[in-house]
Order: sequence, then structure tokens, then C-alpha cells
Amino acid sequence: MKFFLDTALVDEIKQAASWGILDGITTNPSHVAKSGKGFIEVLKEITDIVPGPVSAEVTATNFDDMMRQAHQLVKVADNIVIKIPMIPEGLKAIKALTEEGTQVNTTLCFNPVQCLLAAKAGATYVSPFIGRLDDIGETGMEGISQLRQIFDNYEFDTQILVASVRNPIHVLDAAVIGADVVTMPFEIFEKLAHHPLTDIGLEKFLQDWEKIPADKRDI
Ligand code: E4P
Repeated sequence: MKFFLDTALVDEIKQAASWGILDGITTNPSHVAKSGKGFIEVLKEITDIVPGPVSAEVTATNFDDMMRQAHQLVKVADNIVIKIPMIPEGLKAIKALTEEGTQVNTTLCFNPVQCLLAAKAGATYVSPFIGRLDDIGETGMEGISQLRQIFDNYEFDTQILVASVRNPIHVLDAAVIGADVVTMPFEIFEKLAHHPLTDIGLEKFLQDWEKIPADKRDI
């Protein structure tokens, strides 16, 4: 399973990348706004840090302008993935871009059938937004199980990129279902490594280590 970070904050990306298990980045217009930097400027910085896929989202909603923006964005770096919203004009753009050899991540997907359409159009990734469904009282993760089944039924290569992740249980459930990628905020990524018993156990080991005479702590 691949781990992506869902942010445009370079400090977070540098820190997560230093742990050695970061596979890629997803950005969106809200993340770019939060970074306070120019879109192209921040994409250059991110793609310099992360060799894996970096999703950059178009803001146009018609085919011609989506294509124009996508062509501009792919020039930033070889690892740019174009993020296209799940709307009919978006399907056209997914088809055209993937036929050109550009990788596409379909964003703002809220049910498995939307993801099926994106896969048929040739999307490299589909991003179902789990947390936003949970926020309105639906069970986002149910759609991921259905989607895994659908893609396996028809042998689609499109990768399931679980997005809008709110907690470590989302990561666990996505892994059990067999999603290909999870993208998450930095705070969730950090939480994955932690367990209170790990901290308690480590503290005890370190205290006991101090009980060994200094000359015998020979490392
Ligand atoms: C995915 O690519 C999106 O950027 C993201 O996961 C949205 O999550 P949110 O619901 O936390 O804004």
C-alpha cells in the first residue's frame, strides 16, 4: 500500500519524506491557499523533495481550459499527476490526457459508480473522499469495499486512492480492503507510528538501561 501526504506545506513534506516511507503527495487548491505560495512555485518545491507522484489540481471546469491548465502543470516536473474533478467535462479531459500519456487523479468522487466512470475514461487514480461522507452521516469506507470489488471484477488498473482521511482507523480499513493508496494529512501520518504502550515500554527500557553501571553500557 502506498502512503501519500495530503498537503502543500513543504515543512511537513520534508519531515514525512525523511521517514523513508512517503510515496507521493496530493495537493488541492485549499492546500495551495494555505501554503501562501504561488501554485507553480510550491509545486516546484514539492517535486524537488518527493520523487513519487505529486497531484496538482486544475481549477477550470470546461474541457479546453482544463487541458490548457494541465499542459502548463505537467511542465513543472515529470512526476506531476493532473487532478481532474469528477464532472462530465472532467471525464473528457481524463480520456484526452491519459491518451497523451499524462497520469490523472480523479478527485471529488463520492460513490463507486463515479469512480467506475473515471476508470473507464482511463484515470490512473480515483480519489473517493471518505471523511466528507462520514461527516454527513454516511459510511465512506463501504464504498471502498464496493469499489475494490468492481475494479477486480473488470480488471481495471486504475488505483484506488482513499482520500479525505480523518483518522488512523481509515488507514487500517483501507489497507484491509486492499486500497492501493491512502492520502492523509500530516497529523494522521504522524499518529500511525504511535501507540501509548510503545512510549511506556520505551521509557521503562531506558530507565532500566540507566541501572546498568556506566562501564558496562559499552555501546
Ligand atoms: C484529496 O486529494 C483531497 O485533497 C483531500 O483528501 C480532501 O480532504 P478533506 O476532506 O480533508 O478536505
